[in-house]
Amino acid sequence: MRKPMVAGNWKMNGTREGAAVLLQAIKNSHQKFSDKEIVVFPSFIHLPLAEKELSNTDIQWGAQNLYLGKSGAFTGEISGAMLKEYGCRYVLIGHSERRLHFHEDLNLIAEKFKSAIDVKLKPILCVGETKTQREKNETEKIIKEQIISVIEKVGIKNFEEAVIAYEPVWAIGTGLTATPAQAQIAHAFIRKLLAEQNESIATKIQLLYGGSVKADNAAGLFLMPDIDGALVGGASLEAESFLKICEA
Ligand code: 13P
Repeated sequence: MRKPMVAGNWKMNGTREGAAVLLQAIKNSHQKFSDKEIVVFPSFIHLPLAEKELSNTDIQWGAQNLYLGKSGAFTGEISGAMLKEYGCRYVLIGHSERRLHFHEDLNLIAEKFKSAIDVKLKPILCVGETKTQREKNETEKIIKEQIISVIEKVGIKNFEEAVIAYEPVWAIGTGLTATPAQAQIAHAFIRKLLAEQNESIATKIQLLYGGSVKADNAAGLFLMPDIDGALVGGASLEAESFLKICEA
């Protein structure tokens, strides 16, 4: 049985005070969600706050990015080993905003995935097509290259501890959501792709949907057999909407 997961990606949002308030609200509801995995992804600078507030709860926290290796002359970067020190269990890898604005290519993303695994951080690999790619019928081709490039680097066995988030770029922050049926098709494709490499990993891996998930559309998405939860952006910045999605 795959445990449902709801993850909140705060992106570059939140003040010190606002982050503390949001973390406290999530913490106060944590007992309601003992049958689910709830994870928050604050900005790097708010991770110590997450550690302080969430340490004695079932709620996990993680980082939105990392850089390769343990340490070194990489000004402005943060390593997986540093994240572990602040209690992170997860890290987002290959978010479309990193691919687009920071020019992270397939190879760098695969290297980052490997760096996460090396320090026993669980990577949440984000994949998904742009609007143009969908219109050109390239959705499956794009998802396939985004996943296979990582498998070629680290091997399928290293997906044992990973999560995959399908985040169609056209649905991120746009208010446009993939319909449950559209998302299910992509998720089923991902599971089949993994099953060609390893049946048991394909059956066990949690596949999250991301892209304008809100309190009012989450339940419909979660009914789909291959959707195991959500990676939520905008709606994770307010305790009320995030907790409603967790309840859904
Ligand atoms: P939105 O929920 O704001 O569309 O963002 C989705 C996302 O990018 C989560 O990683």
